[in-house]
Amino acid sequence: MVDVTKVNEILERHGSKREHMIAILLECQEEYFYLPREVLEAVSAGVNIPITSVLAIATFFKAFSLKPIGRHPIRVCNGTACNIQGGPLLVDALERELKIKKGQTTPDTLFGLDTVNCVGCCGLAPVITVGPDVHGKVKISDVPKIVKKLRPKDPTEPKEEKDGPTVH
Ligand code: FES
Repeated sequence: MVDVTKVNEILERHGSKREHMIAILLECQEEYFYLPREVLEAVSAGVNIPITSVLAIATFFKAFSLKPIGRHPIRVCNGTACNIQGGPLLVDALERELKIKKGQTTPDTLFGLDTVNCVGCCGLAPVITVGPDVHGKVKISDVPKIVKKLRPKDPTEPKEEKDGPTVH
């Protein structure tokens, strides 16, 4: 059962206004790293609109996920250029490094691993994305370094604030 205390705080900050629906869902996504059923129900009740309308928004926008994707969702590009340049080998390396399979999230919910269609940086193939950040020309030997950099030194430390996406 998901604790929806944070959802109620987010709703309160937004005055439970319908017109803040997307902002509310974005903050929930940031808090829980995905939108579990309990969160959608709490938002529906808080904003007083049917759960079907909340679901319609949550499934329409790519920024939202209905399944756990981890605090750091790692995606290996599955496009042609990246495939030719060794994308599938990066999937294998990440599976070994994270000890999960593609499509899964680590038990601590820190990492999610999946593939993604061409992200439009084919000249940088093979490409992986970590949240909004793009890593290009990734070598198998880079994988442990990328993952290590994302691991918090202290698991209780607060989320790092960033200005926007970066390209590595
Ligand atoms: S094929 Fe990977 S970025 Fe286009």
